Formats: sequence, C-alpha cells, structure tokens
Amino acid sequence: MCGILGCFGSENPYSLIRSSLQRLEYRGYDSCGVAISDRDKIHSYKVSGPVSGLIQRAEISGAISGLGHTRWATVGTPSAENAHPFMDCNADIAIVHNGDLDNFIELRESLLLRGHHFSSDTDSEVFAHLIEESESNLEPIQRVNSILSKVTGSYALGVLFRSSGVIVGARHESPLVIGTNSSGGFLCSDVHAIAPYVDHVIHLEDGDLALLDTTGVSLFHGDKPVTRTSHPVSWDPAEVDKAGFDHYFLKEVFEQPKIIRNSLEGRVRLTNPTIDLANELPNMPITGKIGVFGCGSAFNAGLLGATIVSELIDQEVGAHVSSNYNRRLLTKDLALAVFLSQSGETADTLATLKVAKSAGIKTIAITNVPNSSITRLAEFTLLNKAGLEESVGASKTFTSQVIDFVLLCLWLNQTDISSLNDTIVDMHNLSNHLDHILDTYQSMEDIALTISNASSIFIIGKNLSYPIALEASLKFKELAYIHAEAIMSGEIKHGTFALLTSETPVIAIAKSGDQYKDVVQTVREIKARNAPVIVITDQADAFLNVADAVVTVESSLPIGFSLEASMIFQLLAYRAAIAKGCPIDRPRNLAKSVTVK
Ligand code: G6P
Repeated sequence: MCGILGCFGSENPYSLIRSSLQRLEYRGYDSCGVAISDRDKIHSYKVSGPVSGLIQRAEISGAISGLGHTRWATVGTPSAENAHPFMDCNADIAIVHNGDLDNFIELRESLLLRGHHFSSDTDSEVFAHLIEESESNLEPIQRVNSILSKVTGSYALGVLFRSSGVIVGARHESPLVIGTNSSGGFLCSDVHAIAPYVDHVIHLEDGDLALLDTTGVSLFHGDKPVTRTSHPVSWDPAEVDKAGFDHYFLKEVFEQPKIIRNSLEGRVRLTNPTIDLANELPNMPITGKIGVFGCGSAFNAGLLGATIVSELIDQEVGAHVSSNYNRRLLTKDLALAVFLSQSGETADTLATLKVAKSAGIKTIAITNVPNSSITRLAEFTLLNKAGLEESVGASKTFTSQVIDFVLLCLWLNQTDISSLNDTIVDMHNLSNHLDHILDTYQSMEDIALTISNASSIFIIGKNLSYPIALEASLKFKELAYIHAEAIMSGEIKHGTFALLTSETPVIAIAKSGDQYKDVVQTVREIKARNAPVIVITDQADAFLNVADAVVTVESSLPIGFSLEASMIFQLLAYRAAIAKGCPIDRPRNLAKSVTVK
C-alpha cells in the first residue's frame, strides 16, 4: 500500500507535506518520511512509526519542493532505514513509491555489481539508482521515462531532482492524482490528502507521467504530451472532524442510521413499493447468475448480501473473495459480476474485475469513492452513500455495501419479489432500530468486558448468520486484537469443541425461523462444556435460562436482522478494544486501502 505525496511551488513544503501525510496514513503508518529540496541539498527526515513522530517544523531557506511517504511494509521490515524517500548514491535524486516491483531482486543485484550503494532492504530503492544511471543531460521527465521499461510490477512513483527542485510522477497500476492551485502542483495517492490545498485534480492513467515545475503541471503518456480531464475539488472539513466522538470508528458507527436513509432516498418508494436504480444504472437489464467479489469487509458484505438475496428471491448469487477466485467459474458462468470496494483501489479486486471484463461479463462497481480506479475500470458504477470513512475498520461502508448490493439484485428481479413490501418496510424501519441500539448500547458493557478478557472467542451462526459472524470476527481481530473465529454453528462440534473452556466465550447468532432450534441445541451443548455463551437473537425465550447473556434485535426479517446484529458486534468490538487500550482507528500492521496483491 503506502501513500505518496509531492508538491512543487509551496512556500513551506515541509509543513504542507507533513500535514497532508497525516491524511494519507490510512494507507499505512508503520514508518514515514519527507525529502525537501532547496536546490543545494535534499534534506531528508524519516521515522519508524506514524507521522506524529516527524519533527513539527523544518526551517529550510529556499525550499521549493518536496516528497512525502507513509508506509505499509511489503519488502523490508518497518524501520526508519526502510522508510521512504530514498536517494541515489549522489543524493541528487529522491524517490517515493507505492506498489510492488516483481523484478527488483535482479535489478538490485545488477545495480550492486555496478557499484551502487543501497541504504534499505526495499524494492523501491532501485528506482533512485536506475534514474541515477539515466543520461543526466536529458530532461527530468525523459530520465524517468527512460527507466520505466526496466521495471515490472506496479508503481505510483514520485521523483524529486535536487538541482532544479522539479518533481516527476509516473503511474502503472497504482493510483496517482495530480492537484493544481494558483501557485503550483501536487501529486498524491489520493485526492483526499491534498483536497484542502488544491482547486482541481487530474486522475492519471496507466503509462502517464507528470512534470511539476515553475511552469505548472505538464502531462505525458510515455514521451508524448497528453491532456486529461481535470475535476474541481470540494473540501468539507466536517468530514474529517470526529464530531465530538473519541474515535472515527465510533463516529462512523453512529452515522449508520443516516446512511441507510441516504441509501434508500430516491431509490426506494415506500408507498406503492418499488426500487428504482435506473438513474444510476441506465440500460442494465440482466438475467442470469450474479457473482459478487470483494476483500475483507467488502467480501463479508458481498456474502451477507448474496445470502439475503437468496432468502428473498429466486436469483442465483455467488460471493467470492477477490484474491481467491476461480477463473474458470468466473469466466464461464456469470451474467453479471459485481465488485464491492470501499476505496475502489484494492489490487486483488481490480485484478478480478479485469479478468471479468476481458471475458465479456458485465461489470458493476459498488464503491464509496467517486473517480477511484474501480469506477474507471467497471462498465457501471453504483456509488455508496456512506461518505468518507476514516477508521481502518469498516463499519458504515459495510452496511451501505450490503444495502446497495441487495437493492441492485432486487431491482434487477423486481417482478419475482413476492415479499417486496415487507422488505422495503424492513429497510425503512432499520434506521430507527439502529438508533435504538445506539441509545442503549452502554448496557452491553459487561458483555464487552467478558470478551475483552478472553484471548480467543468463537462466533457461531447458521446460513444468514454466518456472514454476520465472519464480519464480527474481523471486527474483534482488527479493533480489539482478540483471536475471533467465525464458525457455522453446526460445525463447531466437529473439532472446535476441543478448544472450549470456561475462558473461551462463544457468541451465538440465532435468528428465528427454520433452523433456530438447531442453534438452541448447539448452545446447550456449548454450555455443557462450560464455555460462557452470549446470544444475539430476535427470539430470546429459548435462551433465557441457558445463555450467560442475551442481546435482542428488533427485526426478524433478513436485512433488518443482519444489519442490527452487525452493528451490535461493531459496538461490542469497540468497547472491548477500549477496555484493552487498543488504538481503534489505526490498528497495528493494517491499512485501509490495500493496493498491493
Ligand atoms: C482493508 C481494510 C478493510 C477493507 C478491505 C477491502 O483490509 O482494512 O476494512 O474491507 O481492505 O478494502 P476495499 O477498499 O476494497 O473495500
């Protein structure tokens, strides 16, 4: 992953880069660095850990440009030595890189043989030495372009030339945007980090390069000048405000009732119930099997959405992890492939999308970020109405992905929906039910404390409840650093029973209906093995004298039940994480946007 940044023409590039890097930290925060040119020297600042560890101010007279980087380690451990920017042997060039180089071992070995000195273990450093070897009488843009054919893999690259202070950017399969204002130019991994400083942004295409110098910004595709569409930028400081909450995660959990209302508005009619996405997805009649793809919480949202859809209508839907799909099934069976991605930049999801497209399958992206890579690759885009999500652990985007995917499938199959009325009422009631959970969640404190004291927990669910359990286990792992395993409730007796003790809480998700009795039976068996049991259910009676604690949800319908239960888990994971003193918004070793495979 990693976030890269460059600016030319600012009066105080160090301060500007440092503060923008903090908004890029969601891409990685194990180390970071800044390089500033005053045309005499490149001044370099690097630390292991987040941007708050970089010095606040660096007074460098004559500084006109610089680069910044925040890292999520891929090659080389997290350390100040492996933090970007990297310089060539003469300290004339500095580089920052986001991506993965496939052939860096060969490149590094041949550069070492030719006498270059490396200061890090990373793949990225080869860029600095390759550019050092390029013909020094060429223009900076030509020097960078001349070495790109030597590297294979993905890159968003920023290069700073000491003597002129100019910056060159290049992109191949990692996102890179160019921002402009009246005094200069920026390059950055995303718009969000530079939005306060720029008026317009341009999204580079693969193979594009950008030059930032005293004349402004010039764009190239290979060695040919090129023009790309520029978009105005709007910036709402309220989006990055915690709004009085201690953490972004909690703020985002609390936003969910509003986001559900936004997701339904203009798409779903309550009187004379209908769903209409034609404005957003014109000319989309599809029949046949639907596949939904995603990673992490986006996969869990896809699996939950697919399970809800299969309970409501007769539509075949398969959910797949983007990083682990079966190419043969993907290319043979599907009429429509739907890709869920909050960031729109997850490398594995983009790679799967390309395979689906090349097989001639219709593709839809459901994403939270307009103009992200996924929106430019997919044939159609349905934008989430979640708004910016700052916390690394997903909450509101998970909920809005489920809602949007279910709406899409129901819209494509409206004639088959026998229970459309109930489903639409269920969706409309959901935001009120979530408001109610938020009003009363402090009463779950004892349960959160029990969980926080455990080093391992199990979460069991059947059918619809299993994807809820998967997402819940991810929340406990990410936020509270607790080993949490989701298990199909009928499977827990096949092996996992051996791990049950009085120290391993089990959370059972029990939805009323066909298989409710089976879950009741499983809970009895777990209690007989002395493990504490917490039940989340819409029908509490069968558990009252059996479970150690019961939390009830209001809705018994698929969407309402699933998303109410999911929010209860988000709150439990948050409270358990607080009890353990975890960092909440920036968990160790993780990043919000995973742009490497
Ligand atoms: C990371 C994030 C998760 C997210 C996953 C997929 O692991 O921490 O919250 O679900 O990436 O990201 P995407 O942007 O494709 O939804």
